[in-house]
Amino acid sequence: MDLKNRPRRLRSTPNLRSMVRETRMSTSSLIYPMFVMDGKSEAHEISALPGQYRYTVDMVDPEIEELLKAGVSSIMLFGIPDHKDELGTQAYAEDGIIQRAVSYIKNKYPEMFVITDVCLCEYTSHGHCGVVCECGRRHDVDNDRTLELLQKTAVSQVLAGSDMVAPSDMMDGRVAAIRSALDENGFTGTPIMSYAAKYASSFYGPFREAAGSAPSFGDRRSYQMDYHNRREGIKEALLDVEEGADIIMVKPCLSCLDIIRDVYERTNVPVATYSVSGEYAMVKAASQKGWVDEKSIMCEMAVSAYRAGASIYETYYAKEIAECIREGRIG
Ligand code: PBG
Repeated sequence: MDLKNRPRRLRSTPNLRSMVRETRMSTSSLIYPMFVMDGKSEAHEISALPGQYRYTVDMVDPEIEELLKAGVSSIMLFGIPDHKDELGTQAYAEDGIIQRAVSYIKNKYPEMFVITDVCLCEYTSHGHCGVVCECGRRHDVDNDRTLELLQKTAVSQVLAGSDMVAPSDMMDGRVAAIRSALDENGFTGTPIMSYAAKYASSFYGPFREAAGSAPSFGDRRSYQMDYHNRREGIKEALLDVEEGADIIMVKPCLSCLDIIRDVYERTNVPVATYSVSGEYAMVKAASQKGWVDEKSIMCEMAVSAYRAGASIYETYYAKEIAECIREGRIG
């Protein structure tokens, strides 16, 4: 090689480094997951998610105010009702926990974009994401009966003020079912963010403790995806786009970066990803032991999601990441 005319690398001065940076992030693309529960004047820290709480509706204000101050203006709400039953009736009750929380937050903080999780697992006594089959295969959910309840859930959430619904149940045909129910009720402009590629994952462990939604029998493998399958993730995403999904969510995040990239390349909708409870818990635990540096690990994980193709990032670290973006440490 002619050493004089050899190809050169960019010399990495700080200005140049930020000019040529390939991955850009903005606080407006962050979503913070929040747990709300029935009751009054209580906030319980979730033991496997240090720093994360379940709040009664009257206790959410400081958290919402801090989020807005940090530049995080989207939240996803998960409801934890006192009463659970076979049909998850509190998921679609007019005065259910989510319905009350959404209307409280939207009235007081209209600038906060509120997304609601559409799923029955937090509301059913058995902890499954739908109605359990009375006959046929054991440990299975009745897909089509569940669809009707998901429709009712989504409509009641939007009636209460939800800005976007996020079905996470993984029933077949749910996006089309929810889209038509919303349209029939006049909510043609309300978007659907679908968890299209949702893998059956042990990374959801701490969430199930937080939501009290661990299945009391069986598991979710009949309706959540096998993590050995990559092409199936693309198939699910394409189906959901066809059914009317506006945004596709991939979850978990860290173990599914390849799926994020696939969905980004194969669809024309924004790709969101959810860095789930187990991801947060691992970083917290290791950093509390002094084994890793929390802030830099958290930043590296977030950037890897955007680099893979996500443009929306849901994380329990939303506030801290917003701060790092503002400081110019990342993004
Ligand atoms: C289901 C739902 C789950 C999560 C989000 N929505 C749990 C599950 O499928 O078992 C997991 C989120 C997390 O782990 O942070 N409603």
